[in-house]
Amino acid sequence: MIPAMFSAALAAQLLAPSTASLPALRTSQPAQSQGTAAAPPPQAAQLDFEVYRTFVEPLFTVKRNGNARCIDCHAPGAGTLRLQVLPEGRYTWTEAESRKNFEAVARFVVPGTPRASRLLRHPLARTAGGDAFHGGGKHWASQDDPEWQTIAAWVSGAKPKLYTRTAPRIVQTNSAGDTTDVIDPATNTVVGRIQDIVIPHGVTGAPDGSHIYITNEHLSTVDVVNPITLRVDHRIPLTGRPNNLTITPDGKKVYAGIAQSPGALNVIDTATMTNVKTIPVNGSVHNVYVTPDGKFTVSGSVATGVISVVDTTTDDVVWTLKMSSGIRPMTFETNADGSTKRIFVQLSDYHGVAVVDWATRKEVTRWEHAVVPGAELHSDGLQAAPAHGLGIPDGKHLWSTSKVNGYAYVYNLSDLKEAGRVFVGQHPEWFTFTPDGKTAYIAAAGDNSVTVVDVATVKVTAHIPVGQVPKRNGTVMVLVP
Ligand code: HEC
Repeated sequence: MIPAMFSAALAAQLLAPSTASLPALRTSQPAQSQGTAAAPPPQAAQLDFEVYRTFVEPLFTVKRNGNARCIDCHAPGAGTLRLQVLPEGRYTWTEAESRKNFEAVARFVVPGTPRASRLLRHPLARTAGGDAFHGGGKHWASQDDPEWQTIAAWVSGAKPKLYTRTAPRIVQTNSAGDTTDVIDPATNTVVGRIQDIVIPHGVTGAPDGSHIYITNEHLSTVDVVNPITLRVDHRIPLTGRPNNLTITPDGKKVYAGIAQSPGALNVIDTATMTNVKTIPVNGSVHNVYVTPDGKFTVSGSVATGVISVVDTTTDDVVWTLKMSSGIRPMTFETNADGSTKRIFVQLSDYHGVAVVDWATRKEVTRWEHAVVPGAELHSDGLQAAPAHGLGIPDGKHLWSTSKVNGYAYVYNLSDLKEAGRVFVGQHPEWFTFTPDGKTAYIAAAGDNSVTVVDVATVKVTAHIPVGQVPKRNGTVMVLVP
């Protein structure tokens, strides 16, 4: 379930029968004037444009399951509510266009009285207090729907800023699907599903919980998802088909790895939600990470086997390292002061882990995963990546997955000796940990599920069914009521 947006008190108030003296519905009818010189409706003066633009307007472009989008009908001209047409390739309106939309929408609003506003009554189920008929169908089953409540708050003159708390979510993209599953680690259940991204790839989140960022391989965009509605609010065009993405610890920049040849990093400025810079790197990019201290962005190329290190203040490449084969997942060990000590790297056609010393910029050692007696072995569909998932949960151990035998291996960082292993499912891929480092979530791509492992005991505690071929995942903070 998507969390409800407002307090029970406000919900009760909205539902209370105190609106017996509703103004006649006709008071919210438009003046019918479609001329360019139409004066703004009087309602507009009583409504907040910024709140409208930030919270309400994005709801007109989102895709709800089984429904056409509001914009699909109300931009071409259904009814009398006219939204501005979005040109091909644009997913959001300019401010001038938003102002026109604002005035058009205000005509169907009775400021201060959500339940009298046609904007809220028309797409609302009749059983929940909606109008008997809407040519565009019913989009909200109840007044508890967070989208309905968002619009109601705007109509009431409230600012929807009741989200002050954040909670972690495990976001699992499904690489062969059109869904992304959102898991609450407190209950190990799927609590939401993002349904408007075909072939989602990487995922990261704003540290303040305000946005989830997902690379979209189908449209070659970074999609910005509202964590409350789980809808795509913005799509930011990239210079080519992306793979993974990462964010700086201050949340100001997102780096998207461009997998399409010749490869590059695109830099997204999250204040303006625009693609502000393309950094050329050596080879198409698969994975990209910001180091834990936030000072460097490190990308790896499968095609050329080159690691490129970018300074996050200048966004220029400062050093590179060519390895023996393609660069797959990486993870970073830190020194006591938080600076980077070693990079652990998985490589194409290598069933193990290589170690790069950060200070000397050289590979210092590598080792193969041990053979597991009696394990069922897979060689089909490995995509030249027998080991494809790396992470450090606690500053003491390194975890690495094997697609060959379905195991996760645990090594001591102190001596790089194996400290444990556990079977986690078919074709395990990327994994992520809860913020406290106590629980691992491993995408079992061949099982269409996420395997939950207790880090301390290296034991499987749950399997969570998700969508088709889950691969990349991430732990993000999201705003909750
Ligand atoms: C399939 C096309 C379609 C979709 C999708 C659609 N509408 Fe409509 N809408 C109509 C038509 C047709 C009318 C006019 C007939 C009527 O009143 O039902 C209308 C009427 C309305 C009205 C009354 C004012 C008017 O234009 O006559 C409002 C308000 C409205 N829609 C809001 C919305 C909102 C908000 C959404 C998205 C949540 C939405 N609509 C989605 C087709 C659509």
